Amino acid sequence: MPTYSKRKGTRRSEHWRHIIKLAGELYLLGNLAVAQIYLPKAPPPPADYGRIVFNSTSKTGPGPVIFDHWLHRAKFTCRVCHVDIGFAMQANATGITATTNHEGYHCGACHDGKRVLDGKVIFASCSDGPEEKSCDRCHSIGTSNVRQYDYDTFTSKFPKGVYGVNWELAEQTHVIQPIDFIDGLSMTGASLKNRKDFVVKPAYSWVHPIAFSHEKHTIWNGCELCHPDIFPAAQKGTVHYSMFLNIEGRYCGACHGKVASPLNNCQKCHPNAPPWAQ
Ligand code: HEC
Ligand code: HEC
Ligand code: HEC
Ligand code: HEC
Ligand code: HEC
Ligand code: HEC
Repeated sequence: MPTYSKRKGTRRSEHWRHIIKLAGELYLLGNLAVAQIYLPKAPPPPADYGRIVFNSTSKTGPGPVIFDHWLHRAKFTCRVCHVDIGFAMQANATGITATTNHEGYHCGACHDGKRVLDGKVIFASCSDGPEEKSCDRCHSIGTSNVRQYDYDTFTSKFPKGVYGVNWELAEQTHVIQPIDFIDGLSMTGASLKNRKDFVVKPAYSWVHPIAFSHEKHTIWNGCELCHPDIFPAAQKGTVHYSMFLNIEGRYCGACHGKVASPLNNCQKCHPNAPPWAQ
């Protein structure tokens, strides 16, 4: 938790707000189409953070589906799902259907009623069988008491931070050990050599450089989650990304603010900033 006094903290955050406004105005001058975004929106409670609702089902189907990142990321790396299985990094962009699941793609890549994890068979998705109970575990909107996992119980022993679980610490201390390889889905091959950590130098001298750890990020993301889609430039420093683009969900904001720690935790990247802003 913050160590500075309340008063000082308030002044600092006011100062910070002015700075953002100024930077925002400069930015808006050059980019009028973009709405006035000064600070990231407050995220939902941690239990709802990174939740994807699939709601393209017809009225006759078994109803909308909930997918929670807090549960799945504790068990698997981001890379396994977003590279090996190929889920889009955007909600409702993959085109998941009962058929693709049934054929062993998408959710069905794991939820096939055969794969075993921690000594348990992973329940099947969208099968023809009369497994109504397991249908509801995913098609859970409008049902009650069918989910076996809830956030509070599941994360009760995980280290916590300013906002929900501190995932890095959970991984470092092996409280969780996310799987990075799934038989029959992941490819073996020479993994790319890890890259050096570096600092991002913001365009403004009043913002301290931001430390970026290739090593820590690669544990979760591999290389392919960031290159070439999110960070196409092979040469560091070729593209200038700003806080405003982050808040819009680009660059660092492609993950931070949606699934990885929210952007409201300024201190995570700007150690001199106030810890939390909204
Ligand atoms: C078990 C599989 C799985 C794991 C593990 C996983 N994701 Fe996802 N992720 C998904 C699915 C499924 C979607 C939704 C895709 C869709 O709707 O087309 C998604 C969506 C996203 C989105 C878009 C969210 C939005 O609101 O638009 C981001 C960003 C994302 N994931 C990042 C991550 C990061 C970062 C990690 C690791 C910390 C991670 N994911 C781990 C399956 C996974
Ligand atoms: C990489 C493997 C993997 C993928 C892909 C995956 N899951 Fe899971 N999921 C699991 C595992 C393992 C569990 C824990 C199962 C258990 O303990 O019974 C789980 C649990 C769940 C639960 C919790 C059910 C409960 O009773 O609380 C839901 C809901 C769920 N998955 C939905 C989905 C949806 C929807 C998709 C596709 C969008 C998906 N999963 C894709 C591995 C996966
Ligand atoms: C692991 C999670 C999971 C489980 C378990 C699951 N489904 Fe699905 N199902 C999905 C997802 C994701 C979709 C796509 C939903 C969307 O985009 O709205 C879907 C879609 C469907 C659709 C298409 C709905 C429509 O009207 O277009 C049907 C039908 C369906 N599921 C039937 C079932 C049945 C029956 C079961 C139980 C035997 C089941 N599902 C279990 C994840 C699951
Ligand atoms: C996930 C990391 C991350 C978090 C969290 C984060 N920032 Fe940033 N921020 C950056 C990066 C990277 C840049 C540098 C962009 C550049 O100039 O290339 C930056 C730049 C800035 C700048 C300089 C103006 C600009 O657009 O370059 C300001 C002001 C700023 N951040 C404020 C904040 C505030 C306030 C918060 C908390 C609400 C915050 N940041 C949270 C990564 C982050
Ligand atoms: C979380 C995102 C992320 C992951 C994961 C990631 N990188 Fe990067 N990488 C970056 C960013 C940000 C830059 C700087 C790009 C810029 O300034 O435009 C960068 C730059 C680079 C560069 C250019 C470096 C330089 O000094 O000019 C190379 C090469 C590279 N990455 C390779 C890799 C490899 C190999 C992996 C996997 C081991 C990897 N990256 C994983 C975000 C990532
Ligand atoms: C592909 C998704 C992704 C992108 C893009 C991304 N991150 Fe992260 N980042 C993560 C995940 C996952 C973690 C693990 C902890 C968590 O979930 O919050 C993490 C952790 C961090 C941490 C804490 C660990 C450490 O290194 O000390 C910092 C700081 C950070 N990211 C900064 C950045 C900055 C700055 C950028 C943009 C240059 C960026 N991230 C882009 C996914 C991403």
